[in-house]
Amino acid sequence: MGLTVVITDRDPTAASVAEADHFEQADATDADAILRIARHYAVDAVIAEQTDVAVHSAAVVSEALGLPGIDVKTAARATNKRLMRDACRDAGIPVPRYHYVEAVADARRAAKSIGAPVVVKPVDNQSSRGVTKVRDGDRLDAAFDRAKRASRSGGVLVEEMMEGTEGSIESFVDGETVHVMGFCDKVKCAPPFSYDLQLIYPGNYDEPMARDIRALNAEVIKAVGIRSGLTHAEFMVTRQGVRLIEIAARGCGARVVTDLMSTMLGVDVVACRLRQAIGKPIQWSPNPSFRYGILRFLECPPGRVTHISGLSDAASLQNVVMIDLSVAVGDVIGAVESGDQRPGFLQAVGDSRSEVIALADRAGRTLDIGIAAE
Ligand SMILES: Nc1ncnc2c1ncn2[C@@H]1O[C@H](COP(=O)(O)OP(=O)(O)OP(=O)(O)O)[C@@H](O)[C@H]1O
Ligand SMILES: [Mg+2]
Repeated sequence: MGLTVVITDRDPTAASVAEADHFEQADATDADAILRIARHYAVDAVIAEQTDVAVHSAAVVSEALGLPGIDVKTAARATNKRLMRDACRDAGIPVPRYHYVEAVADARRAAKSIGAPVVVKPVDNQSSRGVTKVRDGDRLDAAFDRAKRASRSGGVLVEEMMEGTEGSIESFVDGETVHVMGFCDKVKCAPPFSYDLQLIYPGNYDEPMARDIRALNAEVIKAVGIRSGLTHAEFMVTRQGVRLIEIAARGCGARVVTDLMSTMLGVDVVACRLRQAIGKPIQWSPNPSFRYGILRFLECPPGRVTHISGLSDAASLQNVVMIDLSVAVGDVIGAVESGDQRPGFLQAVGDSRSEVIALADRAGRTLDIGIAAE
């Protein structure tokens, strides 16, 4: 695109170092450092993608330098689950009962007033770190400790546990216009944990339900105040209707937007996002190449990784978009309790639901990860 790119990462060996015209070592959560770097290079645009951790810092930069983007208050509503729930409630959007607490005694009171089952989660983390479903009151204290440890600010939410099918909806926001890129249904892990195992786009919803999902997405984007960039909203289809789990002011992680959505839609979503960030009009005209897409997380028993084979064969199967492994030979895999501990994922596209499921199965069988019990 002819852009000069400044990349920050706290890790000086990050893959991004090779991609950057200028690399600066800085933690993405350190807004002062990011702002100093942005001023030094007099940047024309700033984006935070794929992860919540940089959303606040990017908002600080865009507000201070008068660049297109979301402001700091919007970034707070999009990354702090309490402010997010408050904004939705104030806009008249149905939300589960929720209490913000910082001490275990208040968590106990909140759980009692809501009634079991409840979800206990940090107010400001992601990848389901510290999120526990609590059916039995005896487990509440442990769940509170787990959430508190994972909370950046020390705040914890105790929420009514909604029941139903989960999904997420990915959008590209351009002022008043919300371009929906796709929405999925999910397979989740077994309780008490809460990470995703599989996403299939489009989700298996009938037309009225699909309309409700889009409507909720648009209402939440408005309530939170997001007027540009990518969004990733998670919802649950309950017996009472579609309810918000949370929304993020950035694209879905696990390379869903960069790779899966871009492949399905035949649009370079990241290039569109960058055009928007530098203040150019975006031309949103997808010409879908594939109707279905799957993201499947790999599952391995705990133990030491003894060998990995078949990776390039699996990755080169036709319509497999990519395989991303976060483990290597010699690593010890523990029990997975949150999304960041999953050993990897694969993405595939196709023209039917059964086709993408079969392809993911085949790629999974082709890839052989040997594990020896420790
Ligand atoms: N009130 C709720 N009712 C039912 N399930 C919930 C509720 N809140 C959270 N969950 C479950 O816990 C998961 C993680 O919660 P949440 O999305 O709020 O945290 P997160 O750390 O941002 O997770 P992730 O990054 O994995 O999406 C949700 O995807 C959902 O399965
Ligand atoms: Mg979530």
